[in-house]
Amino acid sequence: MVEKDWVIDNWIIKPEEMFNLKDKIAIVTGAASGLGRAIALGLDAFGANVILADINEQGLEEVSQELQNDHLVQKMDWTKLDDVKETLKNALKEFNHIDISFNIPGINIRKTVFDLTYEEWNKVININLNGMFQFAKEAGKIIYDYYKQFKGRKSGSMINMASVFAEIVMPRQVAYAASKGAIRQMTKVMAAEWAPYVRVNAIGPCYIETPLVKQVMEDRKWYDNIRRQNVLRRFGKPEEVVGTAIFLASDASTLYTGNLLMPDAGWHWFGGWTGLEEFEDEWK
Ligand SMILES: NC(=O)c1ccc[n+]([C@@H]2O[C@H](COP(=O)([O-])OP(=O)(O)OC[C@H]3O[C@@H](n4cnc5c(N)ncnc54)[C@H](O)[C@@H]3O)[C@@H](O)[C@H]2O)c1
Repeated sequence: MVEKDWVIDNWIIKPEEMFNLKDKIAIVTGAASGLGRAIALGLDAFGANVILADINEQGLEEVSQELQNDHLVQKMDWTKLDDVKETLKNALKEFNHIDISFNIPGINIRKTVFDLTYEEWNKVININLNGMFQFAKEAGKIIYDYYKQFKGRKSGSMINMASVFAEIVMPRQVAYAASKGAIRQMTKVMAAEWAPYVRVNAIGPCYIETPLVKQVMEDRKWYDNIRRQNVLRRFGKPEEVVGTAIFLASDASTLYTGNLLMPDAGWHWFGGWTGLEEFEDEWK
């Protein structure tokens, strides 16, 4: 029972503070393109200093030109441990600590189980899962050690990029879906082990218009088939994932850890529009 004069200790909602990332240091891997680029721009807009890391140096330079706050550019192949260590070492040299890590790179090879070669399976798993584990482990240690000093009064934030395919599947996604399902479980274990110092969450978007899904978007039949799987009957744009990213990076989400947040246009709970042509008029 709440007493009459009960107040929430020192707790006043300040809209301008809740999502504020000023003085936060955020590392964004996969920052040269697509979702990573959009998230890096979003973090910068909300006040963070961003370390842009990616294997694509030219893409990094282009994104770097769009940032307003102090930032760092790091060419890095996250499947190579030396690259990862060098990137994090330079980040610490420049900014002293890290508060937020977005672990983003991923590729897809869309083939059936019988057609996918073992080399192709290994390639997808190596980039999507092994690379992410390696980077998350190294960055997680740095964030964990830094936040330990605050004895649980505040926490760092790690965000792993999963996919709607962490929850559901489609044919021709065997390696990709396996990697994303594993990322979902890996996220929970890290969240459990690193609490209360680092919150670890995952994001699971539907198809988003980036170079990753170019192959699908160029095939009208394939594209139409896929967009009908979600309630909004469309692909998302990279900027539509930024709100989820800022929420998870900021103090607005201090009770979230081990979760998978899904900006997926309702895909994971919906059965698809196939056979319901009366709902398709506006798309013809
Ligand atoms: N686009 C979508 O529909 C969609 C949907 C759900 C999840 N995702 C996930 O979002 C993430 C980003 O995808 P995207 O659509 O922005 O793709 P993208 O191809 O536009 O960007 C991926 C970035 O990762 C970088 N990268 C690839 N291998 C790397 C490596 N070894 N080391 C460092 N960087 C590397 C690339 O250079 C590129 O800049 C992926 O994990 C993807 O699975 C994408």
